[in-house]
Amino acid sequence: MNAFRIRPAVGQDARVLADMLVEAANWNPVRSRTRVTVMEDPTVLHYIAGWQRPGDFGCVAEDARGVAVGACWARLFPADRPGYGFVAPGVPELTLGVYPPWRAQGVGRALLRELSREAAARGHARLSLSVERENFAQRLYVSEGFVTVAAGERSDTMVRTVR
Ligand SMILES: CC(C)(COP(=O)(O)OP(=O)(O)OC[C@H]1O[C@@H](n2cnc3c(N)ncnc32)[C@H](O)[C@@H]1OP(=O)(O)O)[C@@H](O)C(=O)NCCC(=O)NCCS
Repeated sequence: MNAFRIRPAVGQDARVLADMLVEAANWNPVRSRTRVTVMEDPTVLHYIAGWQRPGDFGCVAEDARGVAVGACWARLFPADRPGYGFVAPGVPELTLGVYPPWRAQGVGRALLRELSREAAARGHARLSLSVERENFAQRLYVSEGFVTVAAGERSDTMVRTVR
């Protein structure tokens, strides 16, 4: 198992978050799009545009040399411009991604737990997300306390309480 550490995400992490957003958007290799195509999609860009806005928070996993290997972050969306996992204006929606060589080593779960701690520390009561039902990540979310609150054609909106 490779060693990693988790630190808070900062304004200079926009590039790292963009990389992880592409990983999250391309979770299914059969439907994988180029980075440029993903980043041109306004519904995807929505999750990092203007990072780090007031209210945005997150964490980054780094290897022993300080190279980012994964990230999880959350942002608040307004009801008139929601994210895919929107449930209410005061509930931050999270995004999670880990570089392929670092998957299945506990990074994703550690990031999710840290993000939940940070959400609670900031006074949030809940976190939300959207996940496609075919993505094994849904099992990870269930095991971390997320429950499905709305079901779309292919995706579920999930919520967990953080305090
Ligand atoms: C989903 C993702 C963030 C999980 O991160 P990760 O670091 O690989 O996850 P972890 O190592 O913490 O593993 C979490 C659990 O998932 C399981 N898991 C990991 N990889 C798996 C795989 N390929 N298939 C099935 N289960 C898997 C692990 O066994 C672990 O469960 P356990 O603790 O009971 O053993 C990562 O795989 C990823 O970036 N995927 C592409 C982007 C994506 O799908 N993001 C989420 C969009 S909603």
